This record gives sequence, structure tokens and C-alpha cells, in this order.
Amino acid sequence: MLEIGVATAAYQIEGAVAEDGRVPSIWDTFSHTPGRTLDGDTGDVACDHYHRMSEDVALMADLGVDAYRFSVAWPRVLGGGAGLDFYDRLVDALLERGIAPLPTLFHWDLPQALEDEGGWLSRSTAERFAEYAGRVADRLGDRVRRWITLNEPFVHMAQGYALGSHAPGRTLLFEALPVAHHLLLGHGLAVRALRERGARQVMITNNCSPVLPASEDEADLAAAAVYDGFQNRLFNDPVLLGSYPEFLAGALEDVIHDGDLAVIRTPLDALGVNYYNPTRIGAPPDGADLPFDIRPIEGVPTTAFGWPVVPSGLRDLLVGLRERYGSALPPIYITENGCSTADGTADQFRIDFLDAHLSALNEAVAAGVDVRGYFVWSLLDNFEWAEGYSQRFGLVRVDFQTQERTPKDSYRWLRDRLADR
Ligand code: FCB
Repeated sequence: MLEIGVATAAYQIEGAVAEDGRVPSIWDTFSHTPGRTLDGDTGDVACDHYHRMSEDVALMADLGVDAYRFSVAWPRVLGGGAGLDFYDRLVDALLERGIAPLPTLFHWDLPQALEDEGGWLSRSTAERFAEYAGRVADRLGDRVRRWITLNEPFVHMAQGYALGSHAPGRTLLFEALPVAHHLLLGHGLAVRALRERGARQVMITNNCSPVLPASEDEADLAAAAVYDGFQNRLFNDPVLLGSYPEFLAGALEDVIHDGDLAVIRTPLDALGVNYYNPTRIGAPPDGADLPFDIRPIEGVPTTAFGWPVVPSGLRDLLVGLRERYGSALPPIYITENGCSTADGTADQFRIDFLDAHLSALNEAVAAGVDVRGYFVWSLLDNFEWAEGYSQRFGLVRVDFQTQERTPKDSYRWLRDRLADR
């Protein structure tokens, strides 16, 4: 049976940024820098989940999910022992309600102190990440046997270090590529640290997007292949095949040390895949900074965020991964899928969205792709990074003034669907 869960991330929901020794993260710095987030929103309070964890676990229990994907905040762990107490309590609360915990160790909230030493541009951050992973597993590993190392390293590299629309806000374009290698090295070292501590299932979460060339013209096809290389291959090829896409290997030569690729391809038990939409790509205009141009997908509905809704893209993505990686592809978990909708609890749009994507997933399963789980992004309306609180992805509405939680129609729909299994 397909495991069904919900997903969140620490900085997007927890708040309590200065409690129990938590140290600042790059998202604290970024969101407090004028002009970086919509309306200057920050995660200082977010959903106040740090103080309302029991209420939120109760919401999940009533919903009837099998599992909960959350992230551990590295800044809480770096800050000292007390920071881990929260996750200790969370794991116990989940297990008491029969909900399987699925922690992600890095969902973009790098401690600022590490960024000051170069962040993911620096090789030492990979080593620090593995040490941190080990500390978390030392504390939770008696109850948590499966882990996700990184969330969407592509987005962290591209938006955080290449384009600057996310923390740490650097605009290095292709000079950001070493970030990819250090994230992957950190992943591989962490996989080993987790296994040494008894982990049974370890995965990485990559966000993948089927690429649609704007036309059959050679220039559009070439641009589409380059984009596909960045978004879909840069972080999947090394972990599954032990190599970088050829067109990027030269650019990474200087940062790859002997033995790194063997560490990075330490076998995984599963691949986490986040799917939101396909990406349409054409040739770039003359003189553009990037070797591809992202084009709108016409003629399909869009979410409140303006993201195109293409459920069949999920099937195509899954079937495409199996075609590309063959026997090197481990079982897949969809670790995020969902949409933002206008504020309110009447969200038939989300019900239709989730229903259509679950059908597309089932088509991929029928075509022979081994998919084991599906996690809805997200349990709660939350801090949507640079968009602040303006994009609402929750099954549960959050009133950010009062912190009142109100289940939306989609919550009831999912609850009924889970109960019917
Ligand atoms: C993904 C992120 C997640 C959330 C959704 C909407 O890229 O992993 O934190 O912001 O998008």
C-alpha cells in the first residue's frame, strides 16, 4: 500500500528562532534584510509550531496519515543539547499516534556561522554536515530508522547561490557550481554516518521537472537538454550513477577530490522526488546570462502562485526516471506535491489537484515504476520563503494573527480517502 503523509520544514513552521540556544541561520539573516522577502516577512514566529507541536500532531492523527516528513533545524542542534529535545518530543508524539517520522536533515536553514566560513562553497561544510547528521542520529536513531539527507539541493544552489532569490542571496551564476559538489559530498558523508548508526532507509530529496522543449528547433532542443542537465541530472546522476553529466564535469574538476564520487554514490534505499510542474525551455535571447530561457506553459490552469498544473507530468517524470536510470533507480517516494490556493478553507482546487496527481502516480505504478510513498506539501499554511506568508499550501489554514488552525475542505477530503483504504 502506498504510504501517505504530509510534509513541512523547520524554518517554514517552527518560529521560536531565539529559543533553547538556537543560533541564527541564513534564513534569519536573509528575511531580516530589507527587500529580500515579500512584505519583509520572516520566520520569527511562522506557525509557532515549536510551541504548538502537540496540537499539530493531533491534526495529523485525526487526518489519519501514515507518516510525517519534517526537517530538523541544524541551527538548533549547533546551538547545543536543548535544541534536540524538541525533535525528541516530536518523534515520541508521532510514534504514540502511530505516525512514522521521516526527518530531513537539511531544508535550507544553514547556520549563519557556517555561511560566514563560506557556506556550501566550502568543502568543510560537507564534513560539518555529516558530523551534525551523526549527532542527530545519536539522539533519535533508537526510534528513527529512516532519513532524508538534503531537500532540493538544486533549488538551494540555484536560488541561494546562483541567482540570489533565496538565502544566502548570492548571485554567482555558474561560479555557484562548487555548491552542488559540496552538497552532494555532504549527502554521501551523511549517508555513511547514518548507516553507522543503524539507519535502515536513507534517501535524498531532489526536485525534478520534466522538461518540455519550446519547439523542435535545434536551438530549443539544445537549451532544453542543458536545463534538464542542471535540474534533473546534476543531483541524480552522481548519487545514482557516480558521475556528473558530461557537460558539467569540466567545470567541477577542481573541486572534486579523489574518492568523492564513491562517497556520493553510497547506495541509497530510496530516492525522494518533489514534483510541482514541468518546465518549458527555449533557446536564450542573444547576450543572456543563462544558456536557456524558461517559457510559460500555455493552456493549463495555474495555482495561486502562477505555477502550471500538469498532473500527467508526474507520470512522465516517474516513467522518465525509470527509463534514464534503469536498475540504478531505487524505489521512489514523492516527498512533496501540492499547490497554493487563495486564502480560505474552501479549496476544491487543492482537492482536484491532489486527486489528479494521485491518479497520475497510480498510472506510473501501473507502468511498473516502484513508488512507495506520497507526501502532501503541506500540513499547514506556512512561511513560503521569498513569498513570505502570501502563498498558502496547507491542508490546514493558519491565521497568522491568532495562530488558529482550521482544517480546509482538502483536509476532510484526504481524511475520508485515507479512511476508505
Ligand atoms: C519546495 C520546497 C518547500 C516548499 C515548496 C512549495 O521547493 O522544498 O519548502 O517551499 O517548494
